[in-house]
Amino acid sequence: MRRVCLPEIGTFDAWRNEARALLGAGVPPEAVLWSRGEAEADLFSEPLPTPEGAPVSVSKGFVELARLVVWHRDPERFARLYALLWALRGERHLLEDRGDARVDRLRKMAKDVSRDRHKMTAFVRFREIDAPGANRRRFAAWFEPTHPILELAAPFFASRFGDMDWSIFTPDLSAHFEAGTLRFAPAVGRPEIGEDEAEELWRTYFRNIFNPARLKVEAMQAEMPQKYWRNLPEAALIPELIAGAQARAEEMARAAPTLPPLRAERILARAAAVPAGRDGFVEALHGCRRCPLWDGATQAVPGEGPPDARLMIVGEQPGDQEDLQGRPFVGSAGQLFDAVAARVGLRREQAYVTNAVKHFKFTPRGRRRLHQAPNAGEIQQCRWWLDLERERLRPALILAMGGTAAESLTGSRARLGVRRGSVERLEDGTPVLLTWHPSYLLRLPDAQRGAAEAGFEADLRQTALWLRELPRQESEEGGAAPRAMRSPRDI
Ligand code: URA
Repeated sequence: MRRVCLPEIGTFDAWRNEARALLGAGVPPEAVLWSRGEAEADLFSEPLPTPEGAPVSVSKGFVELARLVVWHRDPERFARLYALLWALRGERHLLEDRGDARVDRLRKMAKDVSRDRHKMTAFVRFREIDAPGANRRRFAAWFEPTHPILELAAPFFASRFGDMDWSIFTPDLSAHFEAGTLRFAPAVGRPEIGEDEAEELWRTYFRNIFNPARLKVEAMQAEMPQKYWRNLPEAALIPELIAGAQARAEEMARAAPTLPPLRAERILARAAAVPAGRDGFVEALHGCRRCPLWDGATQAVPGEGPPDARLMIVGEQPGDQEDLQGRPFVGSAGQLFDAVAARVGLRREQAYVTNAVKHFKFTPRGRRRLHQAPNAGEIQQCRWWLDLERERLRPALILAMGGTAAESLTGSRARLGVRRGSVERLEDGTPVLLTWHPSYLLRLPDAQRGAAEAGFEADLRQTALWLRELPRQESEEGGAAPRAMRSPRDI
């Protein structure tokens, strides 16, 4: 058995060198025991000389994955990486196999690390410390990341705060940036770092930017998990600000100038129609943990389309391609939709296209990921995002494709077979036209598909007609229904 003990500083380079040499020397994964630093090292282990091996070429994709995974806290991370590297020799495309459990596990670990790095860049708070006689200002911070990611994250701080000297202390390691040079040193425990003058300023700033009228506690906690609070000077304010939010929002509303209702309505509608991404919607969605689906998915898929679209199209959930590309309806269902829409003069660019559920739900089957329908709880949790999108867009018409979209929007699970082609109204009066989901049409046997597709086409034609008839002004004046709002069944 070969025992490889990696250093606590420079772990990635050391792992890469060892792995290359072991691979070159043909040492199989089961013959290697990996550890890092003294804490992980086996007491009886004696580092053996590194075997000489032929140079090994490794794909860029694997190196990128390894660069993140080595910083995961899982003690098996090095072994898992090496096992994959070993397997890649025989299966060159293994890394693209989303159904492979080993690849899937490592990708999730990489995602954890990358998320942790993101949190660290957001939540490290430096405090100025006295450095007698120094000609550069000096700062220090204590931070407790979930994974030992300091080496990975420190270059960000070096480029962002290159004009000052600083140290970041973590339970695993410390980083020091002095006169433009970054170095790492062993952990020294949590040093005493007192409050500085900027602290009160920062708290005042936070108090001022906190908008009680826009408070979404769950989104805020998803973005700023409580485990980080103890090291954030502003966090002490959060419970107090949340508790007082409703009263402050009411006070703000009372103090606001009164506007004639119609104008206020229009202004609100415009403010709500901010394109996704501009005000943190997309970022918040990517941090969504409202249900467990985020865990298996590559990413959340937000809706896309013009911020003033009058038509909103709602599907079920992203499929395999949408999950990989991060955009709705780019796979075969989207292609069928585009083809039928083109026949009736409807263009996707006219609409805001989104899904009832924002993460891909699937079961791995060999190399494939098989679609699984979201359950009622998942639909319910994700409705929060769909409602937000509706609130921002205020569409004049919604096209709900498939049972999941219908359930999410109307709350009714009644069979789509008896509702298709009809219009139902939401509580705020928005009309929803119910139709088949294009994936359902793709799954039908040829003998049944013709009739079903004809119904789908009729619904899209009706949608296109409404869009043409709908004077723009009507949608601006509070989402009034199209004048000729009849069900296609009435025609
Ligand atoms: N099916 C959906 O419901 N949505 C997509 O984005 C893709 C397939």
